Amino acid sequence: MAHEHGHHGHARTFDGLDDETAAFARHWDDLLDWVVEQAGAPSFVVDLGAGNGVASLGLARRLPTAQITAIDAQDTWFSVLAERAERAGVAALVHTVVADIDHEVPMSSADVVFASNCLHHVADAGAVLRRLGDASDGDAMLCVVEVALPLLVLADDDPAAAAERRAADALGMRLRESMPLHGGPWAQVIGDNGWQVVEEREFVTTADPASDAAAARHALRHLDRLAAASTDRVTRVDSESLLDAVDRARRATRAVSWDLRGSRTAVLARPARTADTR
Ligand SMILES: C[S@@+](CC[C@H](N)C(=O)[O-])C[C@H]1O[C@@H](n2cnc3c(N)ncnc32)[C@H](O)[C@@H]1O
Repeated sequence: MAHEHGHHGHARTFDGLDDETAAFARHWDDLLDWVVEQAGAPSFVVDLGAGNGVASLGLARRLPTAQITAIDAQDTWFSVLAERAERAGVAALVHTVVADIDHEVPMSSADVVFASNCLHHVADAGAVLRRLGDASDGDAMLCVVEVALPLLVLADDDPAAAAERRAADALGMRLRESMPLHGGPWAQVIGDNGWQVVEEREFVTTADPASDAAAARHALRHLDRLAAASTDRVTRVDSESLLDAVDRARRATRAVSWDLRGSRTAVLARPARTADTR
């Protein structure tokens, strides 16, 4: 695998990404099957903010004649990605590049530009989208995947369910203070920045902690982070209720009544070309 270096400076390590992507394997299969159906026969695919490469590898397995470039601002996951590519027999198809897409998008003639859970992190998503549009030819396809319904993990009959909902609402507001486009109107943002939206589809993210260890770890980590991040935005009673749920989950997965539910929206678009630039 080619491995180039570029900008660094993104301190978040995205711990738990592996459990999340494993827990939501069905979401990934449904999403990538659909993307490939829409993509025709691409030769060059770019996966922006590739993380552990769940999409890069999934696309490589589905598109054996395409070259996939996995781009990320940090190389935290790239050795894992390389091992998995090797094991899946697609190492020759997948290349990794470290680059901060706020500064550069190192791609040329990509037929498919894929970006899952990435664009809400960049400083100026509009500018990145316009740059991607400029660098793509008329037939290119963009697929942006972002959170639609933020994840909730407790079933209504769990004692901490109402506290979870209130904490999630409070945390959603906080997230939007630092990342205004988290859960934002992506089809509109994409349409306003050099692309013509072709289709938008919602994919559920769900998993069962009782039967899946990755889902159990992801649900516990999610609850633990929610409890920690919301202490100053919810009542003490809610905060204690959440911490109690975390304690119960740590003791035994079955001590919590789980119901993981959330969704992501996937927006497909083609470069918008005005009549005189065709
Ligand atoms: C939440 S993870 C998503 C990983 C994977 N695409 C997925 O959907 O599971 C976000 C990824 O975007 C990367 N990222 C954030 N800002 C970036 C930037 N400006 N340039 C390139 N990658 C960036 C992060 O390093 C991280 O790996």
